[in-house]
Amino acid sequence: MSTTFTVDTATSRATPVAAPMKRLTIPAVRRRKAEIARGEGQPLVMLTAYTVRTAQLLDPHCDLLLVGDSLGQVIYGLPSTVPVTLEMMAAHGAAVVRGSYHAAVVIDMPFGSYEASPEHAFASAARLMKETGAAAVKLEGGAAMAPTVRFLSERGIPVMGHVGLTPQAVNMLGGYGARGRTQEEASKIIEDAQAIAAAGAFAIVVEGVVETVAIEMTRSVDCPTIGIGASAQCDGQVLVAEDMLGMFERVPRFVKRFDELGERIAAAAQTYASDVRSRAFPGPEQVYAAKS
Ligand code: KIV
Repeated sequence: MSTTFTVDTATSRATPVAAPMKRLTIPAVRRRKAEIARGEGQPLVMLTAYTVRTAQLLDPHCDLLLVGDSLGQVIYGLPSTVPVTLEMMAAHGAAVVRGSYHAAVVIDMPFGSYEASPEHAFASAARLMKETGAAAVKLEGGAAMAPTVRFLSERGIPVMGHVGLTPQAVNMLGGYGARGRTQEEASKIIEDAQAIAAAGAFAIVVEGVVETVAIEMTRSVDCPTIGIGASAQCDGQVLVAEDMLGMFERVPRFVKRFDELGERIAAAAQTYASDVRSRAFPGPEQVYAAKS
């Protein structure tokens, strides 16, 4: 028996309650690959979450919540993920863990916190795990990162890999276009995935690649692949929650909008502004009467 939560609607606070529900473990995520191969498992569902309330809403529906460094653009309005710091990741990671009871929480290691050496990566990852309670970290990169993936995995830190379009490398890549269009690039991406899988990654995000690359990769590694702009044949899918909720006017081609929340928020704000200006708000239901 683990916990789920009820939300106190007066304060929006989540109160843990006993329930026959258990947070998904990293070994269970890894096992999904074999279950899917046997026809017994469903694709892994992952969404990004950066705040406690979003985590509460997404958690019951997801196997994994990713505290992505995409929070740089989504929450902080930064031009890329490059300026994101460990402090930002730790603060948002802790909020998402507090708001979730079912999904495994994975936290991105920000640019500059893991590339220099496996030892540096361990210090950064250990800090994130201690300060947030997340179950695992994610880092970008292929074969060059394999020794780091092995170093962390062998020391008790589960690592999710991230290959293909790796946004932290935008200054090397020159943009966010799909990868793997040439045979040479396709082979390199697949070799990258194989290298980090062999080093112990428990799952690999494959982002922005030609579909055949994602399919071949999924067949050739023994851990689950989680696609974003990849293929429905990956072992799972991830999207940035704000993208799929329709919070932005423009989204990449691979995003399906499951709502138009941006438009609905703007419409609600417009109605609120109009009610304030016309003195229709607050009405009698929203003001306090003196005791009679
Ligand atoms: O930072 C992020 O949100 C990610 C996903 C796009 C996979 O890495």
